[in-house]
Amino acid sequence: MRIGVRIAIGAVVLAALAIAVVLSMQPGALPPKPAQEQAARPAGATNAETLLIQKGEYLARAGDCVACHTNPEGKEFAGGRPMPTPFGALYSPNITPDEETGIGQWSSDEFYRMMHSGVSRDGSLLYPAMPFASYTKVTRADSDAIYAYLMSVQPVKQKNRPHELRFPFNNRELLIGWRTLYFKEGEYQPDPKQSEQWNRGAYLVEGLGHCAMCHTAINALGGSKESKEFEGGMIPNQNWYAPSLTSNREAGLGDWELKDIADLMQVGVSKRATVYGPMAEVVYNSLQYMTDADAEAMAVYLKSLPKRDADPLPTSQARLVQPSVMESGRKIYEQQCSICHGSDGKGHPPSYPPLAGNTSITMASPVNSIRMVLNGGYAPGTKKNPRPHGMPPFSHILDDDEVAAVVTYIRVAWENSGAPVEPAQVPELRKLLPE
Ligand code: HEC
Ligand code: HEC
Ligand code: HEC
Repeated sequence: MRIGVRIAIGAVVLAALAIAVVLSMQPGALPPKPAQEQAARPAGATNAETLLIQKGEYLARAGDCVACHTNPEGKEFAGGRPMPTPFGALYSPNITPDEETGIGQWSSDEFYRMMHSGVSRDGSLLYPAMPFASYTKVTRADSDAIYAYLMSVQPVKQKNRPHELRFPFNNRELLIGWRTLYFKEGEYQPDPKQSEQWNRGAYLVEGLGHCAMCHTAINALGGSKESKEFEGGMIPNQNWYAPSLTSNREAGLGDWELKDIADLMQVGVSKRATVYGPMAEVVYNSLQYMTDADAEAMAVYLKSLPKRDADPLPTSQARLVQPSVMESGRKIYEQQCSICHGSDGKGHPPSYPPLAGNTSITMASPVNSIRMVLNGGYAPGTKKNPRPHGMPPFSHILDDDEVAAVVTYIRVAWENSGAPVEPAQVPELRKLLPE
């Protein structure tokens, strides 16, 4: 699986702001941890400790810590995963309980301060590539469970690799500017007007799930725009588009059945669509492990997100397409695609997703569909769908005009409301490696 870049997302900061405020706001290091707090290691663990560790393992999955803190060829949680950002590469740190190179000397207080405030043990400010802007919503009790779990995993001696950020982004003090603009510290506050289930879903989506890290437009400063939460955006350095979760023209889930939303997250495929690219990675590492109750709670919350665009969906844009392009797209579709997705575009869900009425194809950005056609892909293998069906790559069969024609075709056929795609949009994406 490929990395992610998820990272990049929150990635860094901006230069101009802030130097002036730096010193006064820099939080200090906490005192070293008292000896009796030395963590619970599993040897001789009591029942209560075992339960706490299990809870922590589940929550760490919900937070997808493993995705960033494990190098594909390396040991679990030992860090070293490169994360390209527009400002240079970050390398995730070792979060195994090794005393010297990991977090073995951290106390649960220090760990909670890191989750809640984005401040490391020595007092330095963390880059928002570590999603503390979401994790700040995590309760103290849940943070302690994750801590207990991490302290129970195999310690790995592996020094952290220094980040390779360009000047001035290598100066952590500039983060104060970013924090002032984009970071609101605070645990999740339940909304008393909503059900317990809704609040559980909101807690997971806004907190550990850190969905906003990808599903929020990135502004020029590298921060997630809070007022635009869940409105979607391009993931920097990855060239994938994370659709809006609030727009019914993108992945707005308002008219989805709860079961289909929960399936999409937990199973990776659903009657409405499948996940692919970076979202497949999120399902693979994290969401497939959610209990049925938590997957449903998240679905309830996601379905309730307010729609930001009330206009009715536009109707088919087929009239905007040159007839010769339409005909070429239709022919390619019949020859190469209809066997799985059907001449009527209805697919054979959940194995082969429908393309007709699928907002992930008609949304304004055609980037994801172009990449799927070039590189193909697999839905993630999950507990509930261990052998997902795949889609073959077409980059070696179709030239740029043909890719644009077939993607245009699926965006406008069957009353689909997407706009046509230009061949010039293809070459850039062709250069990217398959996932
Ligand atoms: C999207 C990627 C990403 C995810 C997900 C993520 N981290 Fe991190 N984490 C990072 C990066 C990058 C850093 C280093 C930031 C820096 O150097 O400022 C970091 C820093 C840390 C640190 C500080 C280590 C130190 O030595 O200062 C801890 C502890 C940590 N993460 C724990 C976690 C836990 C626990 C989770 C899951 C709940 C998690 N991380 C999820 C990317 C991630
Ligand atoms: C690493 C970045 C990343 C994170 C984190 C992330 N997503 Fe996604 N998501 C994407 C991308 C990219 C897509 C487009 C690909 C696709 O549709 O599968 C996507 C698609 C989706 C879709 C639309 C699927 C479809 O085909 O209609 C939903 C719904 C969704 N994400 C929900 C979530 C939720 C809920 C979370 C948090 C638990 C989350 N995402 C976290 C990147 C991310
Ligand atoms: C062998 C069967 C097969 C063929 C042939 C095939 N696909 Fe797919 N397609 C799939 C599968 C399986 C998925 C789900 C993959 C995933 O989730 O990563 C998929 C996913 C997609 C998606 C993303 C759907 C979503 O939910 O967002 C698009 C777009 C797509 N295909 C377009 C095409 C086009 C255009 C062609 C012909 C050029 C084609 N496919 C040929 C099996 C196929």
